[in-house]
Amino acid sequence: MSPRPVIQVREVVREYRRPRGSPFRPRPVVRALDGVSLAVRPGEAYGIVGESGSGKSTLSRLILGLDRPTSGRVEFDGRPVLEVPARELRSAVQPVFQDPRSSLDPRMRVGAIVAEPLEALRLPVDRAERVAEVLETVRLPAAAAGRYPHEFSGGQRQRIAIARALAPRPRVLVADEPTSALDVGVRAQIVNLLLDLLGRLELTLVLVSHDLALVRHVTERTAVLRGGRLVEEGPTRTVLVDPAEEYTARLIAATPTVSWGRR
Ligand SMILES: Nc1ncnc2c1ncn2[C@@H]1O[C@H](COP(=O)(O)OP(=O)(O)O)[C@@H](O)[C@H]1O
Ligand SMILES: [Mg+2]
Repeated sequence: MSPRPVIQVREVVREYRRPRGSPFRPRPVVRALDGVSLAVRPGEAYGIVGESGSGKSTLSRLILGLDRPTSGRVEFDGRPVLEVPARELRSAVQPVFQDPRSSLDPRMRVGAIVAEPLEALRLPVDRAERVAEVLETVRLPAAAAGRYPHEFSGGQRQRIAIARALAPRPRVLVADEPTSALDVGVRAQIVNLLLDLLGRLELTLVLVSHDLALVRHVTERTAVLRGGRLVEEGPTRTVLVDPAEEYTARLIAATPTVSWGRR
């Protein structure tokens, strides 16, 4: 029997109203997600792929509990995320954002940035000790804590962002396009770091990306979104190598063949 999913998405619909409308033309509704169901098992790396606008970021915000579905629900550990106490959810499910330049406060030292979730969640841990620990986990020197984000390269800044996400010992990382803002040359570093973390920590990764090669390299299972609907879902090796759906095959064919290697 497979273990209970750590994240379960049940029949989720998320509608947004377009910002512009008029008294004569009511604002049209966009269905960013249209009846999506999927389950992420503890300890696995799960990919969510699809073209721009297919609903990937909307789904990651719902999984993080940062947004609420119009209908359906998202569960963490068997409970609706909107009913999990905020403090518990915030420490258990942590985001990694696309662009470390905008997600790291330039006026704060790295030590304070990494300690932020510990502070915000008032976790009873020795902050300096935990900061040193997670900096080591992402392979940054302990001295980094005393420096500022601009003193680091793009790849190192993304390591800092990952260290911050790891600080409260989350069970799930939700990474939305974690390498797209980085130079091609440093992307592999971050990819290898993610693989390394998955090997060393008891961590579940939800990796959201339009980069099929990345998702193929890192994840075990993958969901394909198109226009807010789940097109197909299953083992990454099947979905992204020998897909059942015509749409996925076209998506693969349209992707430049940059390879991260075989897993
Ligand atoms: N806050 C919002 N308000 C209005 N429309 C939104 C909002 N967020 C997303 N959308 C719309 O929902 C659809 C899916 O967007 P998104 O989840 O960002 O896709 P992706 O991350 O796959 O590019 C798009 O049509 C987008 O314009
Ligand atoms: Mg997105």
